[in-house]
Amino acid sequence: MRSFSGRDILSLKEFERQEIFHILNVAKQLEPIARSRRNSTMLAEKTLVTAFYQPSTRTRLAHEAAMHRLGGHVTGFSDAKMTRAGDFYQESIKDTVKMLEFYGDVIVMRHFQQGAPHEAARWASIPIINGGDGWGEHPTQILTDLFTVWTERGRLDGLKWLAVGDMRMRTMHSLGYALTQFDCPITFVAPPEMSLTDEFKAELKQYSLDFKEAEHVEQAIAEADVILVEPVVQPDYTKSRDERTGELTLTPSNYRITRQLLETKAKSDAILLHSLPRMDEIPTDVDITRWSRYWQEAYNGVVMRMALLALVLGAME
Ligand code: CP
Repeated sequence: MRSFSGRDILSLKEFERQEIFHILNVAKQLEPIARSRRNSTMLAEKTLVTAFYQPSTRTRLAHEAAMHRLGGHVTGFSDAKMTRAGDFYQESIKDTVKMLEFYGDVIVMRHFQQGAPHEAARWASIPIINGGDGWGEHPTQILTDLFTVWTERGRLDGLKWLAVGDMRMRTMHSLGYALTQFDCPITFVAPPEMSLTDEFKAELKQYSLDFKEAEHVEQAIAEADVILVEPVVQPDYTKSRDERTGELTLTPSNYRITRQLLETKAKSDAILLHSLPRMDEIPTDVDITRWSRYWQEAYNGVVMRMALLALVLGAME
């Protein structure tokens, strides 16, 4: 297995099965630090730079919280409008990263352009973590989700997945790539205009993922062990900021996971994930049912970022 020290985390397409299990095991080792709400000294000499060209609640703050939990420092920006990349100069990724690499030891970047973190990695001499790039990928989120499933169900192989939402989303791409490494059949349910692209389907077939598509969650929920939901009513991820204007449409029932659906059709021990934020695809009365795991998933988001930071900064092998 390749060392993670100094490595970029850009795509889950690059990950092998044993590498994912290694990350999960490191996260499990570090989890007691987060659980006990204390800060250690593991990364006391290191600084994380956050470069967020798009809004974020969880990804940026979970990385920052993870760095604090490991005793490290944090600097960066959460709105590119406050930097030269967001004003008259429209400073390039190359020029920006050539500065940021002197301000810290690892950069987590979210960008509205697909491939922007990969471009940053071309120029940076320190690791780049992809915090979401356009419609591209969101690897740290899906590693968080795998950790949640692994800790909740005790295994990954042999579990059946149902993924509901917009299949153009970056989380769905990272999910598809990750599951190619496991015995995890998956059913995708999406509106026709948001379905898997032919190109992505060809890739998933090439990597031998056992997948199928369905039109309605009711057709697939009964056999699912893991139900992963994303919105179909959502912003355009290729924009730096997409603010809500006018009336919103509601999520059609095909793509909604309601309490009634869970009670009547889902496996009793299935778990329900959502990376959040949500619209109305999971009504709030689902929150206190036994299926919901999205608050646990949010907690695990800190734990997973602790593992990734410790690994890429060489504090754990
Ligand atoms: N799940 C997720 O990526 O959330 P944020 O957009 O708030 O970072």
